[in-house]
Amino acid sequence: MERFLVTGGSRLAGEVGVPGAKNSVLKLMAASLLAHGRTTLRAVPDILDVEVMADVLRALGAAVDRDLTRESLSIDVPARPGAAADSDIVRRIRASVVVLGPLVARCGEARVALPGGDAIGARALDMHVNGLTKLGAVVDVEAGTLVARSSGRLQGASIWLDFPSVGATENLMMAGALAKGTTVIDNAAREPEIADLCAMLTAMGAKLDGAGTSTLVIDGVDELRPTVHDTVADRIVAGTFAIGALMTGGDVLIRGGRADHLDIVLDKLTTAGATVDVRGDGFRVVADRPPRSIDVVTLPYPGFPTDLLPQTIALEAVSEGVSLITENVFDSRFVFCRELLKLGADLRTDGHHVVVRRTDRLVGAPVVASDVRAGAGLVLAGLVADGTTDVSEVHHIDRGYAGFVEQLRDLGANVRREPPAAR
Ligand code: EPU
Repeated sequence: MERFLVTGGSRLAGEVGVPGAKNSVLKLMAASLLAHGRTTLRAVPDILDVEVMADVLRALGAAVDRDLTRESLSIDVPARPGAAADSDIVRRIRASVVVLGPLVARCGEARVALPGGDAIGARALDMHVNGLTKLGAVVDVEAGTLVARSSGRLQGASIWLDFPSVGATENLMMAGALAKGTTVIDNAAREPEIADLCAMLTAMGAKLDGAGTSTLVIDGVDELRPTVHDTVADRIVAGTFAIGALMTGGDVLIRGGRADHLDIVLDKLTTAGATVDVRGDGFRVVADRPPRSIDVVTLPYPGFPTDLLPQTIALEAVSEGVSLITENVFDSRFVFCRELLKLGADLRTDGHHVVVRRTDRLVGAPVVASDVRAGAGLVLAGLVADGTTDVSEVHHIDRGYAGFVEQLRDLGANVRREPPAAR
């Protein structure tokens, strides 16, 4: 496994572009399965998870072509896609579970190996299963594979989610789009990536109301058509650079960043001492004083995103004062804290809370990226640590950040990718 060597002490300054969102494009790719023919996605980030999802679609019979220069992806879906994706491919990313809804709606059967992905919690699938069952599918686990079957067309139903799960909302929206009658999803997730999927489904001919609200109403149609769609900008990548700018006393224009998707984050960063200037083409974050501590509670959108939690804990490790951070979405995101302690952070975890005090200095050390956001948090910590931080398992970072090393270097950071350390 490759690693990143991050030498601290540089200030991030300049401009950085924000690619399309990982957590949107993977679902847009799954949505292409709802229609026979060629769908084109644009602003597709050059990340590992897109490659894996492309392999999932290929295993279902689609022809997938990437044009890296144009950042586009063309997906040609056959009249009858397969029901099962290769289990080894599917297990590599949890997002592959969102092929379940489109496939069972369109083909009457879907088989998806129980998914893998980041090691950040139990990540149950009960809401996906219960929702699809309400729509008339029979869902079972057979030898580690989730199997959904429907003898006829799915039937619209009212579904109340226990928690606004992003993946369950997406799966059920896609299934409902081709079901007979009306589907209502209450307590639906409201993330910008959900609104992006709604926009694509609407362009495909779906009848959908309530995008971006907690109640989605979907009138099922007989057939959907392929479309061309631009992926929404990645708010988590944008937020990561914003936090990096504040930590390093930097000045970064985050081009293409959607400040309106980061309201609470930018408000918190302003409280912490950053100046945020929202412009037509993105937003600029300037930090001309050391950061002050902030308290943060993660919640589903529009709350503070869990996907910026590790980066925020890294920020708090060098912020003046004491910070209380509460994680409400995943149960194992604090695995990251163990690694941050190796750099000398002053923090204590208790259940889903972590208390972080400013430390005089972080010192570079070998650390392990346990998931994509933990990896980003460790890189940010390395930027302000003395000496060199050696981040291993960076394939996790490559899952969600396109050209992270190059982007950071363009901003003046001293970061490089290295082959694995010799044992
Ligand atoms: N949950 C259940 N039952 C379910 C579904 C979810 O208990 O049926 C629980 C999960 O275990 C978790 C919580 O509900 O504790 C939230 O899960 P959710 O379904 O909302 O998350 P997800 O769809 O699995 C997506 C993103 C995550 C992001 C979350 C929350 C993708 C591919 N993943 O996951 O992104 O953290 O929404 O916003 O879209 C990342 O990019 O680093 C990442 C982990």
